[in-house]
Amino acid sequence: MKYSTALQQTFFQTSKQFLSQSLAVKDIEVLRDLIRYHEWRYYTLNEPVISDTEYDQLYKKLQALEAAHPETVTLDSPTQRVSSDLTEDFLSVEHLVPMRSLENSYNQEDLKEWDEQVKKMANLPADTDIQYVVEPKFDGGSIALVYENDYLTRAATRGNGTFGEEITANARTITSIPLKAAFQENGIVKAELRGEVLIRKDVFQKVNLEREAEGLTLFANPRNAATGGLRTKDPKDTAKRQMEAFIYQLGYAVDSQNKTVIDTISTHNDAVQLLDNLGFKVPKSGIERKVCENIQAVIDFCQMWETQREQYPYEIDGMVIKVNDFHLQQEIGYTSHHPRWAIAFKFKAKQATSKLLAVDFQVGKVGSITPVAKIEPVPLAGVTVSSVSLHNEDFIKTKDIRLGDVVLVERAGDVIPYIVKSLEALRDGSEQIIQFPSHCPVCHTPLLKQEQEAAWRCMNYNCEAQILQRMIHHVSKDAMDIEGFGKSIVERFYQLGWLRNLVDIYRLDYQAIAEQEGFGEKSAQNLKQAIDKAKKQPIQRFLYGLSIHHLGKKVARLLAAEIQHVLDLKDWVAEDFIHIKDIGPVVAENVITFFQNTDNIRLIESMEQLGVNLQQTEEDRPKAIRQDAPLFGKTILFTGTLQTMSRKVAQEKAEAAGAKNVSTISSKLDMLVVGEDAGSKLKKARELGTIQILTEQEFLLQVNE
Ligand code: IVH
Repeated sequence: MKYSTALQQTFFQTSKQFLSQSLAVKDIEVLRDLIRYHEWRYYTLNEPVISDTEYDQLYKKLQALEAAHPETVTLDSPTQRVSSDLTEDFLSVEHLVPMRSLENSYNQEDLKEWDEQVKKMANLPADTDIQYVVEPKFDGGSIALVYENDYLTRAATRGNGTFGEEITANARTITSIPLKAAFQENGIVKAELRGEVLIRKDVFQKVNLEREAEGLTLFANPRNAATGGLRTKDPKDTAKRQMEAFIYQLGYAVDSQNKTVIDTISTHNDAVQLLDNLGFKVPKSGIERKVCENIQAVIDFCQMWETQREQYPYEIDGMVIKVNDFHLQQEIGYTSHHPRWAIAFKFKAKQATSKLLAVDFQVGKVGSITPVAKIEPVPLAGVTVSSVSLHNEDFIKTKDIRLGDVVLVERAGDVIPYIVKSLEALRDGSEQIIQFPSHCPVCHTPLLKQEQEAAWRCMNYNCEAQILQRMIHHVSKDAMDIEGFGKSIVERFYQLGWLRNLVDIYRLDYQAIAEQEGFGEKSAQNLKQAIDKAKKQPIQRFLYGLSIHHLGKKVARLLAAEIQHVLDLKDWVAEDFIHIKDIGPVVAENVITFFQNTDNIRLIESMEQLGVNLQQTEEDRPKAIRQDAPLFGKTILFTGTLQTMSRKVAQEKAEAAGAKNVSTISSKLDMLVVGEDAGSKLKKARELGTIQILTEQEFLLQVNE
């Protein structure tokens, strides 16, 4: 280890401090040390202790300080290193044009500011709209390909930007890189293309599984697998990783007179389109690559991608925005580090590190005990996270998570945050093993763990914590959906002693509620109305709202379709469940046990007496026979690329709305939904003239989304 544990802890804490305070020139050497430390953790150990964004922020602070105090710049400052992957193992070759980096932006204000600078540098009025092209910022290994007389003659890594490593033999194993392409037909004799070599996320998982089986070390992430894959000594090893190359830039192109042809192509988008026609894998037009008419369109496209990045099969860490017009690009020019006509829009970090302060043990609605980590609050992908579920005892044990640990937290897309791992390197010995309780923290009943289940459970159905959670669940959106009856109101009424069991929800004293602070007559009446409305809910919601272990929404729907009245279930035995596909013996057993308990029956009966519906409703009956569905009896076809959902999801929605999916255009077709780049089908439908043509949004409106 290059750094002692104590020093690492100091560096980690100082980094966090430096991130949140403004720095002076006196801090500059410490800041350089911090950056060197984080570079070592990232590049040498492959185990960063701060997120990429945090690193970028520290780096930017150093750049700013050095810009203000150029006399302090030392030769060994991290800013004086052009990042490089050069080693002695490969031949070093000079790029035809230097491979520069990109400047980063993090939010729409940064982008707007950059747009203004672009106009200033191009001497254009501030109200001009600049045309930009936006593409994903692929997170793999960069590559430069040289084609001469149509043949691939050289491939190189980025290296230090000026010189790269010659890796032609390895690149030749990547099947999306054409060995020959018709450049000459397009007047190009020699060209250099820029791109990124990637491994699909699912292929990465597979490759790692295979490596595990062979006893090889696993790759930390798809990027490492890809950059490593470019630089293997044996091209067969490269081939095994099933890499793909996305080409995103025509960096250099000359004709037989050695004159550049980039000018005659005139725009970046046309250049990429040309590469597309020549058979290269490029960001797909309209979906991955979009021409935007102004900065607002750029912002919208970037934000749309940020919300969808998880669904994308490749790792991307942002978007790249480029001025489309080549002449304009030339006017705007470069710094030594990056082109001024392009910028990266970095997505919000999905990972951050924080300290595990305490563990709470929470009792769920069916008694499952969930350990919840309380961490020092950290911003993560747009929200502040201070509580993270640790799932169950095995999760804590397998990951060896200890109290006081620095933990790496990840929040991918809309997914709930989770703890990736503890950073062992930062332990100082004061960390403590997390003790799992043996008794319910609320009612003190001994906990039980059932076979094949991960969670310890409190089996006391009358445990106060469980009852409270059950009531919160009962009124929630997915269950009885009582408007305005949120978690905090349930907790408040519970504290007041008004809610002791599910039935109490239906016999609240509205006069007393009206007298509560923050309520009043009107709110109390609104709540009464919402509860009266909920009393008529379909029984599938009621069943789901009972909190029977493993009885989820789907099982509730299946059961509701089978019974006339909720209490019919009193007489059900194991055999009655067998014919219902998707209801297994474990749920069946739980339902039987629940309905054989006389306390539960009494509870349900009293709810019925208070007006809660227990009869099967229209909505509980199997869907197919409903005739009022919005697209009942219609035939429908989807064409082109949909933007907000996959085609499969769209077809399911159509089916759920009563339509039948068909695959060809004919006079029998009722509706055609067109996504982007719709082709011959749309044309044919227009010709027929009888088919209703809808956009994706119009379709969603029709199916009530
Ligand atoms: S353009 C002169 N476009 O990001 C233009 N780069 O941080 C410079 N990258 O080294 C590059 N996707 O490896 C460009 N669509 C894209 C990109 C992209 C990924 C990488 C590239 C570069 C790094 C800069």
